[in-house]
Amino acid sequence: MFSTELRAKAESLVDRYPVGRSALLPLLHLVQAQDGYVSDDGVAECAALLGLTKAEVNAVATFYTMYKRAPMGRHLVSVCTNFSCKVRGAEQVYDRLVERLGVGHNETTPDGAITLEHAECLGNCEGAPVVTVDYYNHEGVDPDAAVALVERLLAGEVPPPTRGLVSSGIRDVEYRLAGLGPRDVSAPGAAPDQATARDGAPPQPASGRDADAHSAGTGGRPEEGATRGGGAEQRGPGGLGPASGSGAHDYAAASASRDEPTEERRDA
Ligand code: FES
Repeated sequence: MFSTELRAKAESLVDRYPVGRSALLPLLHLVQAQDGYVSDDGVAECAALLGLTKAEVNAVATFYTMYKRAPMGRHLVSVCTNFSCKVRGAEQVYDRLVERLGVGHNETTPDGAITLEHAECLGNCEGAPVVTVDYYNHEGVDPDAAVALVERLLAGEVPPPTRGLVSSGIRDVEYRLAGLGPRDVSAPGAAPDQATARDGAPPQPASGRDADAHSAGTGGRPEEGATRGGGAEQRGPGGLGPASGSGAHDYAAASASRDEPTEERRDA
């Protein structure tokens, strides 16, 4: 069942549409904001709100891959394995994450930190291979960078993405996807793990450095930036950190830039 806060939000979503059932997709995101997945209770509540049957709600919830039928971890890590990313090594990226995390597609690490999935085209082919954290893009991610990325997530940190915001967790992102904007984590009823972003702060925009490098054509390909060793010019904090001669990836510089106040370029 929705909390009192989210029940009011749910009703406001329904009121946005001339035909109430049009609110089903945002409502399902709202269910995920609360429960971390499309729970049976959430299905029943959506059905009651919209005058639908539970079968009708389930038919929608099982059609779209963004709706999960098992609880997600604090972060959702998606690896694009579609064509453009595949030819640039996405399968190796995915396999390394499976090996490191010990989970497969749509499975969650035992500590509840990360749910892993492989995904179809994430709409950012020029940045292939692409990995998203809570739907925010990290571009040009090779297997070492992918492991470094999840190590940071497992440690409770969130490296800034190439594009988008520094996520405070998939549930907060689901709230945004419901069309409700950033969630006030201090509001009564906000789940504790929705306030765990860093020091309870709302999501912060990523630095614009990466976008600048990207638009200048200096970092659009892994060999030109993040995945290149030997002190290569780094294309920005896009989840990759400065490359070193050893091939290791260091997020320190990226982390330092995370707190810089910059304008939000793009929301999910
Ligand atoms: S194929 Fe991976 S983002 Fe398009």
